Amino acid sequence: NKVVLAYSGGLDTSIILKWLQDTYGCEVVTFTADIGQGEEVEPAREKAKQFGVSEIYIDDLREEFARDFVFPMFRANTVYEGKYLLGTSIARPLIAKRQVEIARETGADAVAHGATGKGNDQVRFELGYYGLEPGVQVIAPWREWDLDSREKLLAYAESHGIPIEGKKEGGGSPYSMDANLLHISYEGGILEDPWAEPEEGMFLWSVPPEQAPDRPTYIEVDFEGGDPVAIDGERLAPGELLSKLNRLGMDNGIGRLDIVENRYVGMKSRGVYETPGGTILLEAHRAIESLTVDREAAHLKDELMPRYAELIYNGYWWSPERRMLQAAIDESQRDVTGTVRLKLYKGSVTTVGRRSDRSLYNPELATFEEDTVYDQADAEGFIKLNALRLRVGQSVQGK
Ligand code: ARG
Ligand code: SIN
Repeated sequence: NKVVLAYSGGLDTSIILKWLQDTYGCEVVTFTADIGQGEEVEPAREKAKQFGVSEIYIDDLREEFARDFVFPMFRANTVYEGKYLLGTSIARPLIAKRQVEIARETGADAVAHGATGKGNDQVRFELGYYGLEPGVQVIAPWREWDLDSREKLLAYAESHGIPIEGKKEGGGSPYSMDANLLHISYEGGILEDPWAEPEEGMFLWSVPPEQAPDRPTYIEVDFEGGDPVAIDGERLAPGELLSKLNRLGMDNGIGRLDIVENRYVGMKSRGVYETPGGTILLEAHRAIESLTVDREAAHLKDELMPRYAELIYNGYWWSPERRMLQAAIDESQRDVTGTVRLKLYKGSVTTVGRRSDRSLYNPELATFEEDTVYDQADAEGFIKLNALRLRVGQSVQGK
């Protein structure tokens, strides 16, 4: 009888809104979130009103997104398939959570989203819904309706009085895009040819690296317990800090990525991403960990990371295995506190300095000069015992 729709205010979700009202004859509650996509969210209110919607939720979730989703993920140095920083993947669990909360507040028994039946996003939304509200009814219009082409969609919009705003003349973007505080993504259009290089005009979140300033920008990032807390000594809330890193990355052409990735539903897909702040943050976090995390703990983290990345990519944020891994990762971050100095230059981010009160780095131990704490003679027995099985193996089986 009542459904909470994740509503952007754009053409596609407006069509979904109307279609839900017509097809299910149900009352629709709209939910629009500001997660840092860089577009006004308020216009969604007027649009929803035009469809007779009376319960309209518009939430600013930027701080929650950075603090409770992006930062916990970055504690693990998470990348999917060696490259993708999971910008879209990490936002879905938050949207799902808020939608379920709104369903409870408004007494709705169903939730709906605008993801297609071919992608990862449907899985992420719905695993979130079911994981948080086991009995909820899920409506995914893209899997149900017969509006399976752009023309049919536009025809539906026209015949139902839904404003199209220039999209008809080939205006609007030729790409399927998704943006939030962590990244912007581009898929589809000419990108469907994995050999085709994206045109420069597509990129919205970074200057071309070759046109970035000829002088490097130096910054310092402070960490406490594994999370960044300040830039150049200025303490910032998580969302603000990520925004500031985005600006720094954008100006220096940092964070572009072009990959063919494996979707959970089975197909390979070509995606281009800009993750300016996240790319800086990943480098900085690894640098502060290099001083403060024990070798075996660090290596174990690196082994677990691809599993953790896969969980998030596939949509299992709200799962027991993700919580379990998170607890281990968080434990490893207790002493990840200190400062990293970074050089940003024409598309690259390089660590040039790191320091910490909790540093495990001991110059006495590492020095090539004379020292009193390390007895070089100890190394002989260490090597001989480790070589024992190699020597036995070679003398028995070797040629
Ligand atoms: N391929 C990326 C992912 O699966 C980005 C998806 C973008 N989503 C979108 N609705 N445009 O995380
Ligand atoms: C979609 O199908 O809605 C976007 C692509 C994806 O979810 O992977």
